[in-house]
Amino acid sequence: MTNSTASYSQLCERLDGSEDDAWRVHNEALEMQRRGEDVVVLSIGDPDFRTPEPIVDNAVSHLKVGRTHYSPALGELSLRRAVADYEARVSPHDCSVDEVSIFPGVTAGIHAVMSCLLDPGDGAVVVDPMYVGYEPIFSALQAEVQITQADARNGFVIEIDAIKKAVTPTTKVVFINTPANPTGAIIPREDLVALAEFCQSKGLWLVCDEVYSMFTFEKPHISLRTAASKLDQLVVIDGLSKSHAMSGWRMGWVVAPPELTRYLGNFSAMSIFGCPQFIQDASAFALNNDEYYVKEMRDEYQKRRDVVCERLLKMPGIRFNKPDAGMFIMIDISSYCSDDKLFAKQLLDGERVSLLPGSAFGDSTAGHVRFSLVQPTGVLTEGCDRLESFLKNYPEEN
Ligand SMILES: Cc1ncc(COP(=O)(O)O)c(C=O)c1O
Repeated sequence: MTNSTASYSQLCERLDGSEDDAWRVHNEALEMQRRGEDVVVLSIGDPDFRTPEPIVDNAVSHLKVGRTHYSPALGELSLRRAVADYEARVSPHDCSVDEVSIFPGVTAGIHAVMSCLLDPGDGAVVVDPMYVGYEPIFSALQAEVQITQADARNGFVIEIDAIKKAVTPTTKVVFINTPANPTGAIIPREDLVALAEFCQSKGLWLVCDEVYSMFTFEKPHISLRTAASKLDQLVVIDGLSKSHAMSGWRMGWVVAPPELTRYLGNFSAMSIFGCPQFIQDASAFALNNDEYYVKEMRDEYQKRRDVVCERLLKMPGIRFNKPDAGMFIMIDISSYCSDDKLFAKQLLDGERVSLLPGSAFGDSTAGHVRFSLVQPTGVLTEGCDRLESFLKNYPEEN
């Protein structure tokens, strides 16, 4: 909030401050790090890997030949084709460039899609826990968020009946995320099939954020497009932020029916006006040549997950589900402290480890903290050592 007398839109108010609480411990940890303190920061989801060198080289070479101009609002044809080819490879459905639009990151893609589907007051069913970036989008659009909760006892895998129950006469969109942040849960194929059929029968849009699609471990990723028989009101959003360690490049895409894609083009022309050409060129290269480095990073995340899970198993009083995918482990610390924000703050102050409070993602992960795997194994092990020592000495009165 500001004391200024200047007047702003209500949007500014709706967007102001909602993030502060969730990120307080993380921001404090970064501040301590800046002061030179020895902090283990495990509270963010930004891959620690460098973008693979061939992708960087490709971008540089395109920069040098002058690929620095405006680009079509829907994206460069070569990248849209690379995305369409990729989507056709991972699902039984063909995918044409008319179904693909390019956005600077998955977040921008979600914002554009929801802007094209929802008017103020329209309902969107969203699963709790959810990525912290979702809520502000619905808030900006004044959509009604219709929450349905995933259950920790069920490994946070969402029950389709719960989604169906959350639908009301105002619902226009069902929004899912598989594999999920923060839980690493994968929605099983039969559930996706049932959900797609249900949404189809009710005339609802079904939108899926699949940004962790390339980081599944023992189980394969099942794309919504793989499970659904009809694509009429189906949208898949994906990108390179996680899979190719390209979070700062801002590269995402939307796969949607051609009519919605046309509207997304209008939205993009009004807001983004196209993504940088050299980034799109390098992204097309990344998608066409990704097998090796994506696999290397996925294998490393799996190894890290196993190392950390092994350590967590030996810590009394905590519970966790070994995640099937993604870059995080949710740890139930409620037997120590029911207030996850307080626990995270105490852990930071006491042992200099920062984990993200689970309540940042919704009520169903309250009493949890999110342990992020985007650090080398040595740092993760140090984080585990400190967490273990913190739990051993956890003050009784809490
Ligand atoms: C589920 C989910 N969706 C979207 C994003 C943001 O993706 P991008 O950086 O491509 O906007 C994140 C980032 O953590 C995420 O976890």
